[in-house]
Amino acid sequence: MVDRLLIAGNWKMNLDKAGAIELTNALTKSQSTFKEVDVAVFPPSLWLTEVGDLIGSDNIKLGGQDCHEELEGAHTGDISAKMLKDVGCDYVIVGHSERRTNHFETNETIKKKVLVSIQCNLCPIVCIGETWDERNKGTAISTVSFQLKESIPDELDSHQFIIAYEPVWAIGSGKTPTFNDIEEMHSSIKETILTINPKADKVRILYGGSVKPENAAEIFNLENVGGALVGGASLSATDFSQIISIAGAKN
Ligand code: PGA
Repeated sequence: MVDRLLIAGNWKMNLDKAGAIELTNALTKSQSTFKEVDVAVFPPSLWLTEVGDLIGSDNIKLGGQDCHEELEGAHTGDISAKMLKDVGCDYVIVGHSERRTNHFETNETIKKKVLVSIQCNLCPIVCIGETWDERNKGTAISTVSFQLKESIPDELDSHQFIIAYEPVWAIGSGKTPTFNDIEEMHSSIKETILTINPKADKVRILYGGSVKPENAAEIFNLENVGGALVGGASLSATDFSQIISIAGAKN
């Protein structure tokens, strides 16, 4: 479905400056093995410049963990898509469940963030996913379809955006859906995307939520899985590089 898998490392609010530099240096040492895979890291915004200067290569790209829905203005503490582009980002994560929960972000806000990112030449990684309650009630698929319909603008091409399916209950918990459930969800996401964006038939759909070297191979073998959004395991250069090699072996 897609040419190359994308392995994205979301560092969240972790690592001090020295730790971010150490992790980046360790990753750049293994980057000659990253050729068959697209790799991106999402450091805390304070360390974007340092990390960007160190990676300085085509093999590892840089991304922001969030952006404001407006281009600029009186928004104390926020960061714009334009600023992320200015410091060398190619990607931005929008609508992560931690932002939806902790900052009460709505699908409507997320849609605006997608549009402003594209306007700034960033590729948004739009996160969607059901809660444990919704999975148990049998409404996971309808919840995710609703999020997609409300947060993805229409008339987008495959290369302009990326989806990350991240079940909320799988994030940082060590639990994952069954491989069948992941495959079923990814195929439903693809169907929904095509109803909104008929030209987006090659859109990448990442899986996220407790991805580690032990489960990566099986996840990457599933139909319509275009890579992974990795949290905890991206803080270890060894684990993250291993996940990248597993993805490379699949390509
Ligand atoms: P996790 O986080 O890999 O630690 O579960 C994934 C994410 O939140 O993007």
